[in-house]
Amino acid sequence: MADLSVSYMGLKLRNPLIVASSSLTGTPAKLKRCEEAGAGAVVLKSLFEEQIEAQTAKLEREGGDYPHPEAADYLRQIGLRLNQDEYLKLVADAKANLAIPVIASLNCVSPKGWTDYAAKLAKAGADAIEVNVAIIASDFDRTAAEVEGAYLKVVEGIRAKVKLPIAVKLGPHFTSLPQTALALRRAGASALVLFNRFYQLDFDIERLALTPGYHLSSPDEIHLPLRWIAILSAQVGCDLSASTGVHDSAGLIKQLLAGAKAVQLCSTLFLKGMDRIKTMLEELGAWMERHGFATIEEFRGKMSQEKSADPLLYERLQYIKVYVGLD
Ligand SMILES: Cc1cc2nc3c(=O)[nH]c(=O)nc-3n(C[C@H](O)[C@H](O)[C@H](O)COP(=O)(O)O)c2cc1C
Repeated sequence: MADLSVSYMGLKLRNPLIVASSSLTGTPAKLKRCEEAGAGAVVLKSLFEEQIEAQTAKLEREGGDYPHPEAADYLRQIGLRLNQDEYLKLVADAKANLAIPVIASLNCVSPKGWTDYAAKLAKAGADAIEVNVAIIASDFDRTAAEVEGAYLKVVEGIRAKVKLPIAVKLGPHFTSLPQTALALRRAGASALVLFNRFYQLDFDIERLALTPGYHLSSPDEIHLPLRWIAILSAQVGCDLSASTGVHDSAGLIKQLLAGAKAVQLCSTLFLKGMDRIKTMLEELGAWMERHGFATIEEFRGKMSQEKSADPLLYERLQYIKVYVGLD
């Protein structure tokens, strides 16, 4: 029997499959289901900074017009605490009911407010914190360095308050991902999660209205994170976890070969159900036996750019007619 256990940010996982932050991990009952289905760890649904801001704004609206800034501040504090208390309870419940590692998730667009809260998450028992930093670089006056600096501030702020492992979940839109990845590691990230898949925007051309795009990924979306995990894994100096487009055991094996320490699943579990985890792990074990690998470390990173005899192939961006054969 192949040994599927891995170490991710210093956490011992019985296998590399993590249920990604989503409504699949939003209640104690759903979290228990993840563990029973065989997951190696869970990332709780994110506590959203925007959600707290919106809740605070609602409380302020309902609370009327306050002439004193202290009154508004007080309401803001209540708004903050309401959601945050519920979330701390979710962390504590998860820790009480699960044997697998529990990773709390904070969505951040700014460093404010979160740093003290991260310490509370640690106290509630979280094994690690995943920080989902999502800043859209749509401001014409903000340079790339300023936007990247904001990511670093979030991580530095949280690192200053907690000793827990911190994973930083990023989108793919960086001009120099290796530089940003290194800077994040130096700021205190124990792992990077590549990549978040953001809410997609679409247009309804009959109503001339904005609509949400399809919210689940397809297996075709694995290629972008696969390339970057293969390029970064040997050199970035922290663990990598794959997210987006892993729908089957082939996708899982590919990401491990690229050098990922763990692989997160979301869309495939919505589409095919939690039993998908068991199937994927069985197929991973069978593949390892077929290839003579007793542990994941024996083959992890074997197809990273660093191990390749032809590293430039990982950087190829242009199609070459002879390979595509479409014209
Ligand atoms: C319904 C839904 C809710 C999600 N909620 C969160 C969230 O709260 N926090 C987060 O970091 N990612 C969230 N995600 C993103 C997933 O964790 C994951 O990164 C993304 O779906 C890509 O992985 P996949 O291809 O396996 O679906 C959500 C995704 C879906 C589909």
